[in-house]
Amino acid sequence: MAKTCYMPKFDIAIAGEINLDLILYGLPEQMPMERELLASGFTITLGSSSAILAHNLAALGSRVGFVAKVGGDSFGTLAMDCLRERGVDLAHVAHGAQSGVTLILPHGAQRHILTYPGTISELRFEDLDLEYLASARHFHMSSLFLQRQLLPHVPDLFRRMKASGLTTSLDTNDDPDDRWEGIEEILPHVDILLPNEREAKKIARADDLETALSQLAQKVPTVVVKMGASGAVAVRDGQRFSAPAVPVTVVDPVGAGDSFDAGFLHQFLLGADVTTCLAYGNLCGAFSTTDCGGTEAFRNPARMQEFLRQHGCSD
Ligand SMILES: Nc1ncnc2c1ncn2[C@@H]1O[C@H](COP(=O)(O)OP(=O)(O)O)[C@@H](O)[C@H]1O
Ligand SMILES: [Mg+2]
Repeated sequence: MAKTCYMPKFDIAIAGEINLDLILYGLPEQMPMERELLASGFTITLGSSSAILAHNLAALGSRVGFVAKVGGDSFGTLAMDCLRERGVDLAHVAHGAQSGVTLILPHGAQRHILTYPGTISELRFEDLDLEYLASARHFHMSSLFLQRQLLPHVPDLFRRMKASGLTTSLDTNDDPDDRWEGIEEILPHVDILLPNEREAKKIARADDLETALSQLAQKVPTVVVKMGASGAVAVRDGQRFSAPAVPVTVVDPVGAGDSFDAGFLHQFLLGADVTTCLAYGNLCGAFSTTDCGGTEAFRNPARMQEFLRQHGCSD
């Protein structure tokens, strides 16, 4: 009898958060209280690590299912429209009251990042349709520590996804409380861990990157550490890989890490080796910095394809 061939519905399912970023460019270096301080530029754009990743993965051609709790206000509608425009599946997004928002104040190479969580932190385990998530080949979570309701259930969620045959990845991003607790129970169910340098040291509770890398590599099959303008390194099954950043004229680095994740995971889902995944991650991280926020560059498919082609990668 002929065997039924089951086709996964999505390449990747992402559970996380969705909100807008408000970015004020060109503020004065010193910001005294009670003064009216003028910015020279302003962008309102799709923010949040999970939503930026979903958007940019879809722009690259992955089939993406996205779950989060969205606010019932115009900020929520705007953010959802950005994902819808790229073809991200939003059928299982939960609805809440007030959207979260992130205010970003860049100062040279550094930036203030101020977030009001709103619905970002209100996603509950009961809001998740596990069958829907498991209809993908791969499961990903970003911004772990913003998921205050979901966090205690995340080890079980990852365990279930692995048990359903999915591969998994995690980008914790920062912990606003700087405690980095609860991650040890998740790591045994993670295939690819994607921190930046600071986060890698915090997760491993190590003072230097080398120690952090070797400790994390004992817990996760593939550890990838993003290092801004220095590119990225990875350790997979004891083997170390590194790849330089792609030189670009930077508008802002907002969402570079999420765009790196998009490039890396897109290639991983195509079955590419670590070297290719790293190079493509760096390419997408760099491309993201060439326009405002984390997704503006990826909203122009012709420019994206041209950038990839110029650097030796295209469909
Ligand atoms: N100034 C830059 N020039 C080129 N590529 C960059 C630059 N900043 C970031 N990137 C790319 O984006 C990736 C992620 O950036 P990084 O700042 O390390 O992550 P995060 O946004 O998570 O803190 C880097 O590994 C690199 O590939
Ligand atoms: Mg990041």
